[in-house]
Amino acid sequence: ETVSLWGGRFGGGPADALAALSKSTQFDWRLAGQDIAGSKAHANVLHRAGLLSDDELAGMIRGLNRLAADVASGDFEPAPDDEDVHTALERGLIERVGPDLGGKLRAGRSRNDQIATLPRMYLRDAARGIAGQVLDLVDALAGHADQHLGVAMPGRTHLQHAQPVLLSHHLLAHAWPLLRDVDRLRDWDRRTDQSPYGSGALAGSSLGLDPEYVAHELGFSGAVENSIDGTASRDFIAEMTFVLAMIGIDVSRLAEEVILWATKEFSFVELDDAWATGSSIMPQKKNPDVAELARGKAGRLVGNLSGLMTTLKALPLAYNRDLQEDKEPVFDSVDSLALLLPAFTGMIATLRFNTERLEELAPQGFSLATDVAEWLVRQGVTFREAHEIAGSCVRVCEERGIELWDLSDDDLAAVSEHLTPAVREVLSVPGALASRSAKGGTAPDRVRDQLVEIRAESAAA
Ligand code: ARG
Repeated sequence: ETVSLWGGRFGGGPADALAALSKSTQFDWRLAGQDIAGSKAHANVLHRAGLLSDDELAGMIRGLNRLAADVASGDFEPAPDDEDVHTALERGLIERVGPDLGGKLRAGRSRNDQIATLPRMYLRDAARGIAGQVLDLVDALAGHADQHLGVAMPGRTHLQHAQPVLLSHHLLAHAWPLLRDVDRLRDWDRRTDQSPYGSGALAGSSLGLDPEYVAHELGFSGAVENSIDGTASRDFIAEMTFVLAMIGIDVSRLAEEVILWATKEFSFVELDDAWATGSSIMPQKKNPDVAELARGKAGRLVGNLSGLMTTLKALPLAYNRDLQEDKEPVFDSVDSLALLLPAFTGMIATLRFNTERLEELAPQGFSLATDVAEWLVRQGVTFREAHEIAGSCVRVCEERGIELWDLSDDDLAAVSEHLTPAVREVLSVPGALASRSAKGGTAPDRVRDQLVEIRAESAAA
């Protein structure tokens, strides 16, 4: 029969199907280390409140240390009848120190305050790990940006050629959102730095226990202000899951570009053999599976977020068992990114850019038409008219199948009296790039500044 925590009031144990439904050790066992740390801190406050003698405290800590070692070595594992990580570890403690001592630890705490605290501890660690992995990706992007400074590429809007930009400018445009994601994790950590341990089931404890002491023992700056909020809220899980989804989304946008860039039609990049896959039937294939898996995982990460938020919506205070459903989505998001990010960074770091092709395509598709219009503005023409004139040039070129710089002096004059041969000074990619020289622009000097800035921010993160 299932060992239960609430024998007194019940005539018998739970039905098998209820026990099966209720069970969470298959996913909450990863919190065992945090659970034992919480138990040690709790034993200490029981002792400080006069509820454990010096000997009892020493015996309890010895037992918890033995249990921790047995969990680490795999000698102690959840049994089929253990409902959750808390019940399994209570059984383990009682097996080691006996029921007289082991039975004292539960005083003044509830699984409700435990399960509100332990995921905070676990996720704060996980957030640091993920942040480090995201910074590795930022570094890989900055490395390419540094190595390819000066290389132009077609900048696009609506996926159509728009204006030439530096390849480095484009790559760093993927790095900045990732740095903001790291900042989001840090900001989340600051908000999550409060311990609900001591909130009890919902109302706090009558035993004179000090939640602030426990909080400090567990690495928090302090205890929550409200025990109901402490046990009922899961916005810290939703927010973490959002940031993880945002990382997935930011990575997926780069992934999609890598997939396009690796096609025959684009031919902007070649994937390293170690980071590409082949086909079981088509001998010639080299597939961007890492990037495709990144794109796919983003959907899964968003699904985890929306499932979690749907669980939380309209849930009355305080603890409800629905909250047990909070852990699998966020753990899955952590695991998915921990698996994805090293592979994705490996693929990005080893990309080979076809810089000749990027340079060749940069001015095509009339991407210098804006430069013609802005040159006219500098000659005193209104932008309204300048836009019209530059547009006419494009139409003439399109009809004849030529590029803007192929127009003769007579062609130019025929479009507008304002178009003197001097306009040719802006019909070059280096000229177009250098002219975008205000802060944030794609001029080589500004991109160099940007690279310095991103390296400083990534080192400080
Ligand atoms: N396993 C539960 C959870 O993950 C914690 C236990 C609280 N259960 C309860 N019946 N009060 O949320």
